Amino acid sequence: MSKGTVVLAYSGGLDTSCILVWLKEQGYTVIAYLANIGQKEDFEAARKKAESLGAVKVFIEDIRAEFVQDFIWPAIQANAVYEDRYLLGTAIARPCIARRQVEIARREGAQFVAHGATGKGNDQVRFELSSYALYPEVKVLAPWRIPEFFNRFKGRKDLLDFAAKNGIPVPVTPKAPWSIDANLMHTSYESGILEDPKCRAPADLYVMTRNPEDAPNTPDVLEVEYKNGVPVKVTNVNEGKSKVTPLEIFSYVSDIGAKHGVGRIDIVENRFIGMKSRGIYETPGAHILFNAHLDIELFTMDKEVRRIKQGLGIRFSELVYNGFWYSPECDFVRACIAMSQANVEGKVELSIFKGQVNILGRSSPKSLYNEELVSMDVQGDYDPCDATGFIRINAVRLREHHRLQGLSSKKN
Ligand code: ARG
Repeated sequence: MSKGTVVLAYSGGLDTSCILVWLKEQGYTVIAYLANIGQKEDFEAARKKAESLGAVKVFIEDIRAEFVQDFIWPAIQANAVYEDRYLLGTAIARPCIARRQVEIARREGAQFVAHGATGKGNDQVRFELSSYALYPEVKVLAPWRIPEFFNRFKGRKDLLDFAAKNGIPVPVTPKAPWSIDANLMHTSYESGILEDPKCRAPADLYVMTRNPEDAPNTPDVLEVEYKNGVPVKVTNVNEGKSKVTPLEIFSYVSDIGAKHGVGRIDIVENRFIGMKSRGIYETPGAHILFNAHLDIELFTMDKEVRRIKQGLGIRFSELVYNGFWYSPECDFVRACIAMSQANVEGKVELSIFKGQVNILGRSSPKSLYNEELVSMDVQGDYDPCDATGFIRINAVRLREHHRLQGLSSKKN
């Protein structure tokens, strides 16, 4: 008698392969779900592996286009950056992966979903909050928090022994001595030798980007066109090549960024769970599009709207980092941010060179920039005499403050 059907977020790796077999051993019927979210992977080999381990069905789902459109684009609109530096490459992928997982679970009549995230990280929270939000009746199995599982698998050696006993093929390439999470947007590295925050990342860690020191000696110049705050076209100005679909745009900009070593960061961040952790990230494409978006946004958006929106962007980043993509507050913030983007439209030209993104110029039909108004050479619709009163009125408060502090030279 099966205990029920579980849709397991399967990666093809050692951990989730052992989890698959262990779940079967516990009496569950297992459906394996492998999301193609842009990671380099032999998906057909993973399908065969899951089948050979006893998954009753295997779903390999290409969710790259929806990842770009429904998740990366809103993050770009928001200028989403967690703790001033992390572009959230893992955090925004989780709700995308979970969304398809619960779709499958509902469709297949599975009562359970399972994942291989550990009990100390953010990803367990993101997977599970997303699952509960989209499939309220679902039951979650998180083996790394189930004592029967984690007491049995105390280290990699136990997983390897279990694999050997159960005919689970073990990857021939030695495992990197750190934990990796990869998708179309970024690759992240944590744990292992990186746990010592002062230990430098080895040069061969990075799988996505070239070392900026080894990058080409000539820049690539891109023109990115935005509409409603999202890229709608990218053109390589020197080569005259253009991309127009979201997935193509994002992939192309990522490749250019990777070629020039753009978007590497090494940070210590605050996990939702309450501890600090050290992570290394490479986010070549989003780094470029983020910078270009900042530029066109500032060019086209009202000053005061932008201030409010900037605060919402920080809230959005925290919500997403903490796993609340599918929450009423995140829906609200996302809708406000989307509304703020109505006029964020135009073209930004930038050079990508030796790890740097430099803005070269911008143009927009919706620009609030008024050359006549700002020009040093033209008076425009502006009377300089008005500035005298403006400055004096602003000075009232400052003069009062300094008078009270006895710093004023005046004696009144
Ligand atoms: N610390 C990052 C986050 O919480 C990445 C987590 C997954 N990365 C990994 N290498 N296992 O979004």
